[in-house]
Amino acid sequence: RQPVDSPLYPLLDAAAGYYRQSLKSHPARKAAVEYLKSRGLSGVIARDFGLGFAPPGWDNLMKHLGGDALQHKAMLDAGLLIENTETGRSYDRFRDRVMFPIRDSRGRIIAFGGRVLGDDKPKYLNSPETPVFHKGQELYGLFEARKANRDLDEIMVVEGYMDVIALAQQGLRNAVATLGTATSDEHLKRLFRIVPSVLFCFDGDAAGRKAAWRALEATLPNLQDGKRARFLFLPDGEDPDSLVRHEGTDAFRARINQHAQPLADYFFQQLSEEADPRSLEGKAHLVTLAAPLIDRIPGNHLRTLMRQRLSEITGLSGEMLQQVAQSTPPAP
Ligand code: CTP
Ligand code: MN
Ligand code: MN
Ligand code: MN
Ligand code: MN
Repeated sequence: RQPVDSPLYPLLDAAAGYYRQSLKSHPARKAAVEYLKSRGLSGVIARDFGLGFAPPGWDNLMKHLGGDALQHKAMLDAGLLIENTETGRSYDRFRDRVMFPIRDSRGRIIAFGGRVLGDDKPKYLNSPETPVFHKGQELYGLFEARKANRDLDEIMVVEGYMDVIALAQQGLRNAVATLGTATSDEHLKRLFRIVPSVLFCFDGDAAGRKAAWRALEATLPNLQDGKRARFLFLPDGEDPDSLVRHEGTDAFRARINQHAQPLADYFFQQLSEEADPRSLEGKAHLVTLAAPLIDRIPGNHLRTLMRQRLSEITGLSGEMLQQVAQSTPPAP
């Protein structure tokens, strides 16, 4: 999936070194340090995640890494510089931002996210797709989570950089982020190779709830018997970062224990909101929604059990459900 060797790796590593150093010693670092503190982060966590600072200015990194035309080209390829196609001049992509290095599963830096220190837009800027960075495949924090615990039994999937880091700050070091992209088949395959259980915990807003359903859809084809997924829905307006800081680690853990919903429960609850099983029409609709999704589950036992639950809800026998799954709908 990723090139074994690429000149972009040492370059990205050098860039991360520059950003880290700037957070420690650049004259303009104060605002960045204050910002991280205001978000409750300690120096230890900043170090663990390799956080840095891209100082204000158009060419800090370009000058620092310097070099010849080849180096310049590589910096463009790595997404560190942007070229103005009209003037042909290039400039630093990341300016006046807190920098989050993104590592691959081997720990190599492959990209960056950068956050503004205030409320400016865009809030986050990310590296573009490059030969070493494919956004839809990566999970931010996965390398750090495995490093913290070689024996993970559950990984929590959240939306953002700050969620991963805030949870780690509070002692929950098993979170990874999809970085604003939908949870993909690739993500699930990778996660289930590492742990038997995945806990999705997205923001308590409409986008977060939509992301949860999409995550469920990506999970179904990866649910072998012995694997499981759970969903924790947060109060409106909260994300894992804000919530764990408000209520603390113990309350957050208790919340997971009490409220994380098994995939099957969330599945039937959600579909029953779309198709009300109190009427026959609703039951029929529910079958058309649920049966094809259940069929995607590779785990024989779980698939059978979910069909059984659908039978109980709708009154259709297992055999009849089987026929539904096999029959094609009539032309309108
Ligand atoms: N994101 C992005 N570009 C944006 C907004 C979001 O790439 N303009 C990605 C980032 O990876 C971000 C994630 O989507 O971490 C979740 O977005 P959001 O919930 O809006 O951000 P938060 O992580 O909650 O940001 P913060 O707490 O720093 O305000
Ligand atoms: Mn590639
Ligand atoms: Mn969000
Ligand atoms: Mn947030
Ligand atoms: Mn958020």
